Amino acid sequence: MISRTRPPGRTRLRTLTISGTAAIVAALVVSLLPNLAQAAETTLGAAAAQSGRYFGAAVAANKLSDSAYTTILNREFNAVTPENEMKIDATEPQQNNFTFSNADRIVNHALSRGWKVRGHTLAWYSQQPGWMQSMEGTALRNAMLNHINRVAGYYRGKIYSWDVVNEAFEDGNSGARRNSNLQRTGNDWIEAAFRAADAADPDAKLCYNDYNTDNWTWAKTQAVYNMVRDFKSRGVPIDCVGFQSHFNPNSPYNSNYRTTLSSFAALGVDVQITELDIEGSGTTQANTYRNVVNDCLAVARCNGLTVWGVRDCDSWRSSGTPLLFECNGTKKAAYTATLEALNSTGPGPTPTPTTPTPTPTTPPGSASEIVGAQSGRCIDVPNASRTNGTRVQLYDCNRQTNQSWTYTSGKQLQVYGSMCLDAAGSGNGAAVQIYSCHSQTNQQWNINSNGTITGVQSGRCLDVWSTTNGAQVQLYDCNGQANQQFRLASLT
Ligand code: G3I
Repeated sequence: MISRTRPPGRTRLRTLTISGTAAIVAALVVSLLPNLAQAAETTLGAAAAQSGRYFGAAVAANKLSDSAYTTILNREFNAVTPENEMKIDATEPQQNNFTFSNADRIVNHALSRGWKVRGHTLAWYSQQPGWMQSMEGTALRNAMLNHINRVAGYYRGKIYSWDVVNEAFEDGNSGARRNSNLQRTGNDWIEAAFRAADAADPDAKLCYNDYNTDNWTWAKTQAVYNMVRDFKSRGVPIDCVGFQSHFNPNSPYNSNYRTTLSSFAALGVDVQITELDIEGSGTTQANTYRNVVNDCLAVARCNGLTVWGVRDCDSWRSSGTPLLFECNGTKKAAYTATLEALNSTGPGPTPTPTTPTPTPTTPPGSASEIVGAQSGRCIDVPNASRTNGTRVQLYDCNRQTNQSWTYTSGKQLQVYGSMCLDAAGSGNGAAVQIYSCHSQTNQQWNINSNGTITGVQSGRCLDVWSTTNGAQVQLYDCNGQANQQFRLASLT
């Protein structure tokens, strides 16, 4: 995991220094945008790199000797995931006897070309070696931790992101954990796995990875979301969530996919599309690929996409022709749509939003509660925390100091006199938190006559995804809907 421990009091300074540098770089990059936008890239990896993203493929070690395969792989992609070679049965076939030769072939192929490697996967109910399948309890928990320590330790420093835990939730409407021998070692097995991976490879992004978590309304999606939110609130070292995104008639792409990606990102994790394949053909398939790419591009924290194989006949579901190349290497309509979508964005993942005209409705200087129009609930600092970086939420209005906001002439929304409502970023899904007041624009807000509150730096609206107690507040493109409307009600 990246930057897991930050010395209090120094974080903001470092963030500001970095963001100052980033602003200069961004300004330079934006000035180059028209030229780059015209010069469309001709391969998937290069096109994705324009916005700082990667485009990867699942790779099988035994195909690296097939020149038709490697010709496409080497030309088009800049990231890989070993399809089976890093799984538990492959890397620890007998207990404490580790083999990495097949995985190493893929890792070396990638690293020698400067590509990223996604590690897949350290803890999973499936593809366990026989000795592990028959284990339970403490012996299994210890074996899992040892496996993570040894495998993540062996690849320490080489892996961009690890799928630390794979597929730990049930399908269907229960939202429950999947019953497995790992689950039976205790409900904390997932966080134990993340802590072990964190210790073994502190620089890798640590991901939870699953399928059927793409549709925002599905119970499994919500269950994983709640787990990630809980992990973030308790400091469990999780950096990212992988969305496998195997789309087919039983699990079709839904236009709320973007909401899913941005909602997870708003929890403070990166999101990655990790095993993309879309069954079908022709224009329909191409349009779905286009939508998926556009959804990733619309979410600043979507790091990149990986397709689960190179050609249709390399796919685990080859009969569904779900990939971007035909078996003979011909580019499909899905390829063209994917490339066009990747090329449609210039450098910088997030478009600049427009800022509505501000009309303050509350005189500066008086304390108010900020009430959500849809929920009737107030913007609240959880547990009256005074810790920098505490995310604000909706909660039943209580007129206490942790819901008492003073709008200043400098456009700050102050709480406790010395802390300010602060945007942790400027993109869609950026967390809204409290932080020691300073003079930067990420702590300045316009309170608009249309009921929205917009960030001066981002131009985006304060936004909540639900109306319940604990619903987190984030930035999002202003959309005119009730979940972005608030009123300041005087407390004096
Ligand atoms: O290599 C042996 C071969 O020697 C043997 O003759 C043959 C007999 O069936 O099996 C071959 O191994 C197969 C292996 O793929 C390599 O082709 C396994 O049986 C087969 O089970 C295995 O399937 C893999 C599957 O995970 C196992 O769960 C797929 O390749 C792989 O694409 C798939 O990947 C998973 C992700 O890890 C997690 N998300 C879902 C995704 C698709 O199921």
